[in-house]
Amino acid sequence: MNNLFEIAEACLHNPSIDEKLVLTHHAKSLLDEGQLDFTSCQPVQAINQVKFPQKPILQAPRYMPKRNLTSQDGVIAFFHAIAHVEFMAIYLAWDLLYRFRGLPGQFYQDWLCVADEEAQHFELLRQHLRRFNVEYGDLLAHGGLWDHAVETAEDLLARLALVPRCMEARGLDVTPGIIAKFTAKGDEAGIAILTRILTDEVKHVERGSYWFKSICGQQGLEPETQYRSLISQYYRGGKPKGPFNRDMRKMAGFSDAELDWLEAG
Ligand SMILES: [Fe+2]
Ligand SMILES: [Fe+2]
Repeated sequence: MNNLFEIAEACLHNPSIDEKLVLTHHAKSLLDEGQLDFTSCQPVQAINQVKFPQKPILQAPRYMPKRNLTSQDGVIAFFHAIAHVEFMAIYLAWDLLYRFRGLPGQFYQDWLCVADEEAQHFELLRQHLRRFNVEYGDLLAHGGLWDHAVETAEDLLARLALVPRCMEARGLDVTPGIIAKFTAKGDEAGIAILTRILTDEVKHVERGSYWFKSICGQQGLEPETQYRSLISQYYRGGKPKGPFNRDMRKMAGFSDAELDWLEAG
């Protein structure tokens, strides 16, 4: 299999975790070797065809227990939760490039590179959990991480605003504080994984900002007005809550005006 969209469909429609990881790295290798075919021949299947593994069992966020990093159980619950975020990020990257066709080749290359990095993040966390004799799927997981994908399945600008520029951007706000907690505990392995993820996530959000602005420009839309309007339309509660990491978000393509609007409560 060397067609990007066939591989994307296989990753989205096959619930197997290991096959998804192998296929994702396979696609990235084909890209690096110049062997990846970007021809779009088959129709896009509806988003309700996407299949997830039987485990972890998903739970409404309000029922998820509070995590306390002072106990080992809390640390395990934290890494399991982050592993789930990264696992879902593999799906989100694949779905973004699968569902929206007719864009420049660089768009597809960018999101394939993101999918490949999300797979690496997930593998690092799965390996880390195994040091505690815990497998991904042993604990319950947050059931809301696919909602924005479904809601924005027909609208590329809304998808970019809500997934890279809202969900992923949240990681830039919260991860530095979590790294500080692991630093205080002297947990070198945890610090290394979280630092690696944070470094890559700045790039993912930056690609989201880049494509958001580029596609707004093609459609003659003003990106900052469009961002405010899409977040207000799709984000439950109207706007994500801060505090926001202004420095990292600016590196990732947010403008001062967008950050002022987000912070304005
Ligand atoms: Fe990630
Ligand atoms: Fe990411």
